[in-house]
Amino acid sequence: MLIVVGKLLLHISFIFTYLISSITIAQPNFISDYCDNDIGNYTISSTYRKNLNSTLYLLPINGNGNGFYRSNGNVGDETIYSVALCRGDVDQDLCETCVNESISKLPQLCPNQKSAIGYYDYCMLKYSNSTDILRNNQLDFLVTIFGSSNASDPVRFNSSLTTLINRLIGDASSGGDLRKFATGNITSPDVTTIFALVQCTPDLSKQQCGDCLNIAVHLYMRYHFGCVGGELYLPTCSLRYETYKFFNGSTLVIPTPPILQPSLPNPPPPGIHSILFLYSRSI
Ligand SMILES: *[C@@H]1O[C@H](CO)[C@@H](O)[C@H](O)[C@H]1NC(C)=O
Ligand SMILES: *[C@@H]1O[C@H](CO)[C@@H](O)[C@H](O)[C@H]1NC(C)=O
Ligand SMILES: *[C@@H]1O[C@H](CO)[C@@H](O)[C@H](O)[C@H]1NC(C)=O
Ligand SMILES: *[C@@H]1O[C@H](CO)[C@@H](O)[C@H](O)[C@H]1NC(C)=O
Ligand SMILES: *[C@@H]1O[C@H](CO)[C@@H](O)[C@H](O)[C@H]1NC(C)=O
Ligand SMILES: *[C@@H]1O[C@H](CO)[C@@H](O)[C@H](O)[C@H]1NC(C)=O
Ligand SMILES: *[C@@H]1O[C@H](CO)[C@@H](O)[C@H](O)[C@H]1NC(C)=O
Ligand SMILES: *[C@@H]1O[C@H](CO)[C@@H](O)[C@H](O)[C@H]1NC(C)=O
Repeated sequence: MLIVVGKLLLHISFIFTYLISSITIAQPNFISDYCDNDIGNYTISSTYRKNLNSTLYLLPINGNGNGFYRSNGNVGDETIYSVALCRGDVDQDLCETCVNESISKLPQLCPNQKSAIGYYDYCMLKYSNSTDILRNNQLDFLVTIFGSSNASDPVRFNSSLTTLINRLIGDASSGGDLRKFATGNITSPDVTTIFALVQCTPDLSKQQCGDCLNIAVHLYMRYHFGCVGGELYLPTCSLRYETYKFFNGSTLVIPTPPILQPSLPNPPPPGIHSILFLYSRSI
């Protein structure tokens, strides 16, 4: 599986450049991790590491009952913030297993960095000594994974997919402060049924959630237009769509959208299965 790592300069108007390398995926349900070298480092034998351990240890018992976990710790006058979020449809047990696994794995993968993020199929974990990690995408990391096949009619596929996703973004972002999660399916003539899932960390405002998911939609349109199957993970939101049902529970039913006039699509990079973008905000 090819993975592309990119450096993405995120302006208000999204200007990107990217560079390429490859990594392998270690475990089936582990997607990727990012150790932030810019925020700051600690040493393995420091009080910081010890307190990071105890902060993360308390994470699984600090859930909101809806798969969202927060735990803070202190080192001197510094605060350690940690957050975990399970995919909204995942059973409580699987959720807790995923959080447990991530809190021991991520500090091993990032043995010196104060800021880190790890994405799994069923949960994500992030921690930092900066509040930036909580509500914005300042951790500067996102992962995208796309299928290698294209829709036979990409314009029609896009039309159905974006209709579904826009509806889900509306539902998820207005989901309240316990849970911002929505799933749904859409079927239209000539296009197989599309299933999609969107989620934000529930501490985001409605606006912040919508903004984050719209970045994901933008990346799909810009780089993966018409790809059959896609996953995008950002520090505060995620989006996934497939042509099979990959989530549990009932879904929204979306009526068939009208076919819009095609505008010229940006072709996805050929033959790419997985893409990992690294971006930094320049203001
Ligand atoms: C986080 O850690 C870095 C490196 O030790 C430090 O420079 C920075 O001030 C810390 N941030 C906060 C908010 O304490
Ligand atoms: C943290 O350590 C990494 C290497 O482990 C280094 O590249 C980076 O510059 C360090 N960051 C700071 C802020 O010292
Ligand atoms: C942190 O926890 C890990 C395993 O959970 C352990 O191996 C390590 O020694 C701990 N470090 C400190 C400083 O307590
Ligand atoms: C989906 O639901 C089934 C039946 O309740 C359950 O066994 C399974 O663990 C669930 N999957 C996830 C990812 O939660
Ligand atoms: C997660 O870890 C906690 C604390 O170690 C433990 O009590 C709990 O049973 C674990 N949960 C699962 C599902 O493994
Ligand atoms: C998907 O579309 C792109 C651009 O239109 C093309 O380069 C690529 O080869 C296609 N991939 C497949 C598997 O058909
Ligand atoms: C689409 O969602 C509806 C509503 O939950 C459900 O009844 C239907 O079975 C779903 N379609 C498929 C193909 O799963
Ligand atoms: C994809 O669909 C959306 C909404 O239906 C539309 O705004 C957008 O222009 C479409 N993109 C292309 C490249 O056709």
